[in-house]
Amino acid sequence: QGDLIVNPTLACGNPLNFKEDLDILEKTGIKILHIDIMDGHYVPNLCFDTGMVGRIRKNYSFLLDVHLMVTNPEAYIQPLAAAGADYVSFHFDATHFPIRMLNQIRENGMKGGVVLNPAQSPELLAGTLPYLDFVLVMGVEPGFSGQKFLEGTVEKVRTLKGMREQMGLSYLIEADGGVDRENTVTLLKQGADILVSGAFGVFEGRNGLEQDCREYQELA
Ligand code: DX5
Ligand code: ZN
Repeated sequence: QGDLIVNPTLACGNPLNFKEDLDILEKTGIKILHIDIMDGHYVPNLCFDTGMVGRIRKNYSFLLDVHLMVTNPEAYIQPLAAAGADYVSFHFDATHFPIRMLNQIRENGMKGGVVLNPAQSPELLAGTLPYLDFVLVMGVEPGFSGQKFLEGTVEKVRTLKGMREQMGLSYLIEADGGVDRENTVTLLKQGADILVSGAFGVFEGRNGLEQDCREYQELA
């Protein structure tokens, strides 16, 4: 589980040279990689597709954490299973049937997670929590890297940790969006198990990817 804390998001990598970035992440001991899939419809942006997941799977041993920011996430389950995804999350409001989605993700051998947008409260997930492996809590509105962290996020992580205890469940809690050097410590203290690290962490660009990544790993 400690291996999952630092989860770099490839969306913040260098699009002209993802290979160089991935080689550095591997060399620094990163075990999990966050891959954002967008459809220009659920969010007003595009990012990676399922093909990219397969290409990375063929060349690297990271656990692949795929975050679906798409309408009709059902259509992505089979392609992602074939591509070799390990963790798959979809937005709670992108489907009428989150429990069916989760069951199908898990039947296909992957870990299933639900994503909570900043305006949605953890209580919304009460009926779904027994069927999932992880909850992804957005710290920003989805669609773009580099946005400012919304403060209510920490409280939601804490609430989800409380619900986990109360319900006797063991799902992991992932924070994504605006995670930086300061809120990293707070998020971990309040119960986050996985931190997606982008523009304010691993990919800060201060001293180059390798050194920034090592420094952030030490902090977390
Ligand atoms: C935002 C994506 C995030 C994003 C995070 O819509 O889901 O994964 O890449 O980037 P930062 O850490 O820069 O907010
Ligand atoms: Zn994401």
